[in-house]
Amino acid sequence: MTIAFMWAEARDHLIGANGHLPWHLPADLQHFKQTTLNQIVVMGRKTYAGMGKPLPGRTNIVLSQQVDYPVAPGVILLNNVAAVLDYASAHPQQETIIIGGAQIFALFKEYVTRLYVTEIDATFSGDTYMPALDWSAFKRVAFQAGEIDTKNKYPYSFATYQRRDE
Ligand SMILES: NC(=O)c1ccc[n+]([C@@H]2O[C@H](COP(=O)([O-])OP(=O)(O)OC[C@H]3O[C@@H](n4cnc5c(N)ncnc54)[C@H](OP(=O)(O)O)[C@@H]3O)[C@@H](O)[C@H]2O)c1
Repeated sequence: MTIAFMWAEARDHLIGANGHLPWHLPADLQHFKQTTLNQIVVMGRKTYAGMGKPLPGRTNIVLSQQVDYPVAPGVILLNNVAAVLDYASAHPQQETIIIGGAQIFALFKEYVTRLYVTEIDATFSGDTYMPALDWSAFKRVAFQAGEIDTKNKYPYSFATYQRRDE
């Protein structure tokens, strides 16, 4: 079973603004789609509400403490971390990718073995920040600088880290 995190952060570890992403970076959305397609994505109720609809082609799990929170058909509502870990271990052929937000990343810090991070070298205003991680426990296994163009205006890069003891 692999539990991964996937997120994009700007300077100061900013990840969110008013329920949404602070930036427009379509190359990152494309990378996110490629990495998560056919996998299990796990998101907090606020991130799900901000997206407004499930991510197609993926098993969508929404985490909420509300047992009757309404989700779209096909979306799996779970109420605690243990239920997500049980689902992940019952589906080992798929990667379980935690896609945020900040509250949900904090809950899975001790279980995560792989990190997919997009670093955006720019400053935005916002209100939600990536929780601190123990980076010494991870080694970088992939890195790619992003191409800047008219639609992707900020310097950015994609990196993958793997837990050293895995
Ligand atoms: N840049 C990125 O890569 C990225 C990725 C994802 C999200 N974001 C941004 O992050 C922001 C949202 O993050 P957030 O931290 O405010 O919210 P969040 O993590 O998306 O969702 C928080 C909700 O998760 C549920 N929850 C929290 N702890 C729980 C537990 N122990 N058991 C069960 N459910 C639990 C609660 O739902 P209930 O209140 O319903 O109980 C809580 O309100 C948005 O701006 C979004 O756009 C950015």
